[in-house]
Amino acid sequence: MNLKGRSFLTLKDFTEEEISYLLDLAAELKAKKKQGITGESLKGKNIALIFEKPSTRTRCAFTVGCVDEGGHPEYLSKADIQLGHKESVEDTARVLGRMFDGIEFRGFSQDTVEKLAKYSGVPVWNGLTDLDHPTQILADFLTLKEQFGKLKGLKLVYVGDGRNNMANSLMIGSAKMGIHFTILAPKSLWPEEKLVAECKGYAEESGSQIGISDDLDAVKDADAVYTDVWCSMGEEDKAAERIAILKPYQVNEALMARTGKDTSVFLHCLPAVKGKEVTEEVFERFADVVFDEAENRMHTIKAVMVATLGK
Ligand code: CP
Ligand code: NVA
Repeated sequence: MNLKGRSFLTLKDFTEEEISYLLDLAAELKAKKKQGITGESLKGKNIALIFEKPSTRTRCAFTVGCVDEGGHPEYLSKADIQLGHKESVEDTARVLGRMFDGIEFRGFSQDTVEKLAKYSGVPVWNGLTDLDHPTQILADFLTLKEQFGKLKGLKLVYVGDGRNNMANSLMIGSAKMGIHFTILAPKSLWPEEKLVAECKGYAEESGSQIGISDDLDAVKDADAVYTDVWCSMGEEDKAAERIAILKPYQVNEALMARTGKDTSVFLHCLPAVKGKEVTEEVFERFADVVFDEAENRMHTIKAVMVATLGK
């Protein structure tokens, strides 16, 4: 499998085989790191980490993953550079592309990360936009593989804000990988129909089923129940409205019991607002899995950098 020179903007651009390859590479890099073995695959490579929005996991995963492989990461916050304000995204992209070997971008617009990829001429990795969070999905799927030994045929139910970046990218990733996927959300927070139709197309090829429901019975038979914050970064002013409509969709022990399986796990991309989208009780019962998932951000992001840029 050769992914050299490729950008990682959305899982829509990757096949089932390519995603599997990245997950296998991440598992291999993780096993090596546990034995104290790191690599030199990014030796001599400089990578720019652009953050318009805050981050703990993604920033640290790119930094540690890059340094583990011998590369140099440079953090550029919104306050440090002119991106899109006093300089066009196209110009910043062309400058960074002359100095850096790869660029990570976290921010608001998917259009920005696409422009960075188009104009920089180097691999660009999407560290989260309003629409998509593809590196998170690799960590989620590696965690599911560790828990269940497979992905195909698992049933994953995402509960909560059904039209945010996590709902979108879990739907894309599940459809690509043959995971049966349901979004459980009030109708006003359902995903865009166009994206659902696109994902149903991928699902036909992989043999999975994609469903959208506002009925709590949708969690029946779920192997994994996933949730995310009710207000994503940049939507903090919507808190009161979201709490009012999402309260019935909190992941609590009663909802977990509705899976009818004692093997179901709970997943969360983090950061979590305990007492809102998930109770402290459920969160702590599955803390080991959730923090494996957080750790796996690093191994999977390292795999993306090694696969697209490494020697
Ligand atoms: N899950 C995730 O992307 O976390 P950060 O916002 O801390 O990077
Ligand atoms: N939906 C969340 C994900 C955080 C990793 C947000 O965009 O804030």
